[in-house]
Amino acid sequence: MKKKYAAAGLALIGAILLFAVFSFLRENWAASGTPGGVERWIARWVLFRNRGTATDTVNPLPQNAETLAAGRVIYEKHCAFCHGADGKGPGPNGMKFYPPVPSLAPITEPLTDGQTFSIIELGIRYTAMPGFGEALPDEDIWKVSRYLQSLSTQSLSIGDAGPPISH
Ligand code: HEC
Repeated sequence: MKKKYAAAGLALIGAILLFAVFSFLRENWAASGTPGGVERWIARWVLFRNRGTATDTVNPLPQNAETLAAGRVIYEKHCAFCHGADGKGPGPNGMKFYPPVPSLAPITEPLTDGQTFSIIELGIRYTAMPGFGEALPDEDIWKVSRYLQSLSTQSLSIGDAGPPISH
């Protein structure tokens, strides 16, 4: 009797696995559509899990006009393409990503200095967010972090950091 239940259980698990694999393969892989609730939930979870790499490191650069101006140049060169000149989302080119580009202005949930640094340095796997650890020296990552902070809080007016980007 026990053996029968075990066999039925195994068959059920097998059927569920088959169904899962089949659904996965039939998945719409387009980055332009909006996927279902479960996938959206997982994508959000991945985004927030990234914040788990927090360090206590504090940005060594002061938040002054000079740092912001330098950070802005880096942002416009490397980040505006995806995050938009104002940090509010997809850039002016209309590209679609999934997981989507989150708003940095304001940011959904504030990041510590260390979290911001590690996200920019390492990137976020399985998303379009690249790691800039090789492309940018640490100092530039700190500069652009300061700029992101000002975009998010608008504590310093954008005007302090130079003329706006032109397209
Ligand atoms: C090719 C597109 C692309 C470029 C270029 C890019 N990003 Fe991102 N970025 C993304 C995407 C997509 C995400 C969301 C990833 C996710 O859902 O986990 C993201 C996430 C982030 C986050 C985390 C936001 C949050 O709410 O947790 C920060 C901070 C960030 N980017 C900063 C930058 C900075 C600074 C630059 C430039 C040095 C940059 N990004 C360049 C696509 C890009």
